[in-house]
Amino acid sequence: MTGLSLKGAISDDELTVLEDAGLLISEGKIISVGGFDELKYSHPEAEIHTLEGNHTCLPGFIDSHTHICFGGSRANDYAMRNAGKTYLEIAKAGGGIWDTVTQTRKASQETLTKHTVKLANRHLKNGTTTIEVKSGYGLSVDEELKMLRAIKKADTASSADLISTCLAAHMLPKDFVGSASEYLEEIGTNLFPILKEEGLTTRVDAFIEESAFSAEQIAPYFQEAKTMGFDITVHADQFSTGGSKVAVEFEAVSADHLEASTQTEIELLAKSNTIATALPGASLGLGCNFTPARKILDAGGVLSIASDHNPGSAPMGDLLTQAAILGAFEKLSNSEVLAGITFRAAAALRLEDRGKLTKGMLADLSIFHTSNYNEILYNQGNLKPCMVFKNGELVYNKH
Ligand code: NIG
Ligand code: FE
Repeated sequence: MTGLSLKGAISDDELTVLEDAGLLISEGKIISVGGFDELKYSHPEAEIHTLEGNHTCLPGFIDSHTHICFGGSRANDYAMRNAGKTYLEIAKAGGGIWDTVTQTRKASQETLTKHTVKLANRHLKNGTTTIEVKSGYGLSVDEELKMLRAIKKADTASSADLISTCLAAHMLPKDFVGSASEYLEEIGTNLFPILKEEGLTTRVDAFIEESAFSAEQIAPYFQEAKTMGFDITVHADQFSTGGSKVAVEFEAVSADHLEASTQTEIELLAKSNTIATALPGASLGLGCNFTPARKILDAGGVLSIASDHNPGSAPMGDLLTQAAILGAFEKLSNSEVLAGITFRAAAALRLEDRGKLTKGMLADLSIFHTSNYNEILYNQGNLKPCMVFKNGELVYNKH
């Protein structure tokens, strides 16, 4: 993927496929990529590992949007939704985001860490070596801190890299006495400084939606976050438009969801440096339309694809399957899909050291048992990696 551009459409003939190839790895990084024999002769000091049979090596996948730190399950919400119950009926029956907040508050930090590690390791086995993880089921200063500390511990305990994001602005907590603006002000004043002090995250997210926060309510919150040096990311245009405009105004690193985006929002995003993130797992979980990924790419935007793995709208949590399905529905080239879960997703997290198999990048690798890279998306997630490397270390081996 060396020569592929960050922005816009990519055709499959732009992708370089190296055959009889080798990677030279040292101290967790890729030193050189090229023909196996050539590398072998130019580096006689190298310890050699060969893979017998046909394999395809891709960069480790990067999931730039998940909520895998949570308590409880929303299997009953899912059943009710599919049986035709409305959002309001589900909320009345005790479902929705608030249900997960209640279950997450009941869980100890240790329990949350354990659960997050378990899910992170499942993603790792499926080839995902970097996973963004949001808070947002705590919704008070103390409970958000508990989540972000749990995520930090989980990062140490899992071989995958976990990148945390503060999503205290997920919804107005039902038990907060005061207005939405007062809640956001409290978070900005009392939580943001601790996030900095403890190094818990460098990223702040907000859900801009009729059921969550309005653009007007979020503006001073994002202003404060930006002033303090946080990167901004937004849950935007999921059911109604408005979020992506805020994202562009605040120079957010990414605007995620975008299922409701129209040509106006698509063009706005394409002209900006804000990365558009499609979350096909949320479309599959809710049974609604996909993000207009083809239009975003054709307008010249950057498309990242993430799983949104969460207990409510996206319970599946299988990035490769979802990216393959999005590709089929949105008519994306295989290169565009693979770019969306590798270097373009890395850009959505402002990570410059991963996502391509080139010199200097981390040796994060997903290896599949096939000689034809097209087999990987063709199998729609059912062809799993047989080996996964993180920082040059073998962390999963099915052989
Ligand atoms: O990204 N859209 C808002 N937040 C999550 C859903 C969280 C939940 O339902 O628990 C999302 O889809
Ligand atoms: Fe989300």
